[in-house]
Amino acid sequence: MEESGKNCIIFYGSQTGTAEDYASRLAKEGKSRFGLETMVADLEDYDFDNLDAIPSDKVVMFVLATYGEGEPTDNAVDFTEFITAENPSFSLDNDPPLGNLNYVAFGLGNNTYEHYNAMVRNINKALQRLGAHRIGEAGEGDDGAGTMEEDFLAWKEPMWKALAEKMGLEEREAVYEPIFGITEREGLTRDSLEVYLGEPNKMHLDGTPKGPFNAHNPYIAPIEKSYELFNVKDRNCLHMEIDISGSNLSYQTGDHIAVWPTNAGEEVDRFLDIFGLAEKRHNVISVKALEPTAKVPFPTPTTYDAIARYHMEICAPVSRQFLSTLAAFAPDDESKAEMTKLGNDKDYFHSKVNAHYLNIARLLAIVSKGKKWTNVPFSALIEGITKLQPRYYSISSSSLEQPKKISITAVVESQELPGRGDPFRGVATNYLLALKEKQNGDPNPNPFGLTYEITGPRNRYDGIHVPVHVRHSNFKLPSDPTKPIIMVGPGTGVAPFRGFVRERRKMVENGQDVGKTILFFGCRRSTEDFMYEKEWEEAKQVLGDKFEIVTAFSREGPKKVYVQHRLKERAKEVNELLQQKAYFYVCGDAANMAREVNAALAQILSAERGIPEAKGEEIVKQMRQANQYQEDVWS
Ligand code: FAD
Ligand code: 2AM
Repeated sequence: MEESGKNCIIFYGSQTGTAEDYASRLAKEGKSRFGLETMVADLEDYDFDNLDAIPSDKVVMFVLATYGEGEPTDNAVDFTEFITAENPSFSLDNDPPLGNLNYVAFGLGNNTYEHYNAMVRNINKALQRLGAHRIGEAGEGDDGAGTMEEDFLAWKEPMWKALAEKMGLEEREAVYEPIFGITEREGLTRDSLEVYLGEPNKMHLDGTPKGPFNAHNPYIAPIEKSYELFNVKDRNCLHMEIDISGSNLSYQTGDHIAVWPTNAGEEVDRFLDIFGLAEKRHNVISVKALEPTAKVPFPTPTTYDAIARYHMEICAPVSRQFLSTLAAFAPDDESKAEMTKLGNDKDYFHSKVNAHYLNIARLLAIVSKGKKWTNVPFSALIEGITKLQPRYYSISSSSLEQPKKISITAVVESQELPGRGDPFRGVATNYLLALKEKQNGDPNPNPFGLTYEITGPRNRYDGIHVPVHVRHSNFKLPSDPTKPIIMVGPGTGVAPFRGFVRERRKMVENGQDVGKTILFFGCRRSTEDFMYEKEWEEAKQVLGDKFEIVTAFSREGPKKVYVQHRLKERAKEVNELLQQKAYFYVCGDAANMAREVNAALAQILSAERGIPEAKGEEIVKQMRQANQYQEDVWS
């Protein structure tokens, strides 16, 4: 900080990029509104024992996501261990150790998880204990309620006020200052070998990608086969088998696979068009950070087309704060006024933007009635639009059965929205759908089928390929295969359980003994979306009465029937199995299902054991702590 003349450092603990993005936004706002000299830093890159050497005329901000069961994100593990230790060893002998430290804290969490925002709460507590001074409240954003962005916006205003007062800062008229410089590279064309056309790093550019394959370096994996799991016209669910034998990637049953998607051609066109970049989409540009602490989020030299297609989340929900930035570059006064109103009025913004699932290009075209937004500096887009993120999928194969083949079970995101014209389409799942169609030579089954660059940058993929990496998880079968297991997985929540069942099936084929294996599966109708129906029958052939599938077809009777209703019908047996130390697993929807299953289990324990419901809840909590109750859920 001293060297670069900074007086505000913003650390992020980020898993999927949102916390990192919020950190960058704070940095930018601090600079443009208050003249703070800000820098953003990955917690992983910092020597925490120097935290006590930061003088009181500077400020440290923490933007911390909570991951899984109240855990730190991967890049915040060491910091969390350090700061929450009984006596962290700092570089100086201050008393209290962090008596000079001024800090600001915001957490990103999900209230559907038990340990809501545990990270920011724990770190805040630890910093207070060490004598640090917090400025403003410790903010908490809630992804579960879908209010993350609004929670962030509501938290930061009073925080800025408190910070300005504490540090004697004057607020000034925010002036846009680009963080990135863009240079058109006259001498280069998209055929030049040094130009990135979507390759994630130098090895991919050179055509020699090598492991380790991870969140910075995907493996371009062949898709061996892919097929449809539903029997209905208007919904798709994909089964995809990905071959990792050409890599040193490995996985264990219950892990996750990350898919690196490509944006749909139609959305790339729409995006480039509204900003007046369509004509020069293939021009080669170099992007350079104008600030020593800023990082260009993609490799360069590259092209506008490649950035929009491979590196930016151009279809994501629009940030309300970003609209206020863009207002300054509107093509006319009317558009400017509308953008300012959208930026300032939360309810108006939600009714006009989010309710219609508009992305940035669609919104701008509506606001300006089609006029192009050619004044927007490209740097503002790099700063205001997040990096395209890989999507995670619960692996639905067994590593015992097929260690070098990973399967995905993914439902394709598609929603009809009144008054929009075309349906909203999810980024990664529609890309996967396109790969499946290409592989099977299917004609596009719907009128809004999107087009993708299937063969990758420079037409490099021979056959159908998808960029992936593997993320290890704690969602695991008991190490003792004779332990009974109860699995609850409606919809695509069944994915890891297909892996579990196949694993136990393989064990029996290998002559091993396995415990009772019960799967509670739910879907709409037995004739429409009963995934892997045949495979369950085959499993039954091998596992005999060790395996049972209990189904809840929600739309076949007069009343909805869900997996938790079926669990309750089998209360006696569920309780008995748990008394035999059965492992209990839940996978799928975090928002409602997982919570209701948790509650149902507590009620079952209470009824069967004749104990108060609070005690039943306590037992479920203890089961979680002992890893006897495991969740793999998403919203
Ligand atoms: P996206 O484009 O990312 O859209 C997803 C949602 O974001 C939309 O439905 C919408 O609610 C919102 N959204 C996006 N854009 C906008 C906009 N412009 N305006 C308003 N709202 C918007 N899925 C499976 O099918 N199978 C699995 O096994 C599976 N396992 C998972 C495991 C984990 C650990 C996690 C975290 C998730 C898992 N998922 C799984 C979900 C998966 O990662 C993806 O989130 C899902 O497939 C949707 O991705 P997408 O890119 O198609 O949709
Ligand atoms: P529904 O769509 O008919 O309401 C997979 O999506 C299955 O999960 C469907 O049968 C769906 O039923 C069901 N489902 C929806 N909400 C649920 C909840 N809160 N708990 C359990 N299952 C649910």
